[in-house]
Amino acid sequence: MLSRRDFLNFSAATIALTSLPNQIQSNQLIRNYKLTAGITPHLFDKKGVSDNLWLYNKQTPGPIIEAKENDVIRVEFVNNLYEATTIHWHGIKNINKMDGVPYLTQDPIQPGESFLYEFPVKNAGTFWYHAHVETWKQISKGLYGPLVVKNQVDDQFDNDIVILADDWRLNKKYQIDEKSFESLHDWSHAGRIGNWVTINGKKFPKYSINKNGHTRLRFINASNARILSFGSSLDGMKIISIDGMSVEPFIEDKFNLGPGQRIDLLIKTYDLSTIDFFEVSGKKPLSAFKLNVDQTSKKNIRKEDINLQSFKKIPHYKNPNILKIHMQGGAMGNLAKAYFEGTEKNFRSLAMEDKKFWAFNKLVGKYEHELAKVKKGQVIILEIWNDSRWSHSMHLHGNHFYVQSKEFENLETPILRDTYVMQPGEKSKFIYLADNPGKWLFHCHMLEHAASGMIGYIEVL
Ligand code: C2O
Ligand code: CU
Repeated sequence: MLSRRDFLNFSAATIALTSLPNQIQSNQLIRNYKLTAGITPHLFDKKGVSDNLWLYNKQTPGPIIEAKENDVIRVEFVNNLYEATTIHWHGIKNINKMDGVPYLTQDPIQPGESFLYEFPVKNAGTFWYHAHVETWKQISKGLYGPLVVKNQVDDQFDNDIVILADDWRLNKKYQIDEKSFESLHDWSHAGRIGNWVTINGKKFPKYSINKNGHTRLRFINASNARILSFGSSLDGMKIISIDGMSVEPFIEDKFNLGPGQRIDLLIKTYDLSTIDFFEVSGKKPLSAFKLNVDQTSKKNIRKEDINLQSFKKIPHYKNPNILKIHMQGGAMGNLAKAYFEGTEKNFRSLAMEDKKFWAFNKLVGKYEHELAKVKKGQVIILEIWNDSRWSHSMHLHGNHFYVQSKEFENLETPILRDTYVMQPGEKSKFIYLADNPGKWLFHCHMLEHAASGMIGYIEVL
């Protein structure tokens, strides 16, 4: 195990990271999917049908897109909404033009239009896909689904269950509350916090798993802004993967999941008949799910351990390119003035005239806002300072980065993530090799923050 000191000691000259996408080869298996975005009614509660959800293939969450490492995912997408949209494949080290960012990597897909997404997946793990136009509206209406890439490690599991959680804001009639979509309060504070947390679209779902087997649970947080928190009836939960990257397994009683983040657990079901999980970010559990161990299943009676895959190495390198990112803004913050579209404005006029509240380095961002240009092959260190009173779930497109996470007490080694929650006042370093050319968005995954300025891109040339 490497210590904090080793991590901060940038010396040797190699860096091990995730594989690059390259051109699609003729021997790669193509996984074909069709996704259609449309307006779909949904029953959250027997008391009322919600008829203003926007879903993929009429289901919430959208269908699981599944592939094996080194396959090609091909999605024929049709937009049956009344608004333009795109799809982003969160956590995939993608080909830039398939990354789904409007105005930056593609034109928005207009109502009635279709678009073909096609890209190789080089790394097994838990990912997800979601709309990327006006995400604060389109994701909160339900435009997302899980994306799972497997390899031979996954063949050893007897059950593999996606636990995709979302925090909806419903009004008294069980409709998505649209009146509050552009609430200045939400945009300048913690974002849109909901009142109806679901797991795979339900409040208290149940799943059946095999006796004496191994179960992989893949947690995904699709909330606009709520940091979810999971506990269980187990005597410790074994974390085996974070943001789609395997880690040296470790045990936690409880874990947090910021918007956009994922965590995979390994559960062995030898002596238990039920296992309960609770979402505990509120005062009482907002949602929960149960695993019922099927005592009659004869499918697997083995007890040996699973061989987990090897873990990504810690980077050692020289001459990093250091980019400083000073995050400011929000309510009770210290952002007096910032530039928006070339004009310097005070905080009040940014808020009132432009609905902007957040800035990186005194610049209010948007999709087309360039934060930096770097050369391919450089090691980048984003030195980030969250100089605001709010937490931010910072997401970098197209790359995983090493971060010295402060969230797990026992984890001294840096972990690979694509989304990292920064606490108020926290300073952090995101370290990655810029080996994938293109324009890669960097933004807060608290979607109201991104919409009101906490966004920009880093171009790799
Ligand atoms: Cu999951 Cu830019 O997004
Ligand atoms: Cu934020």
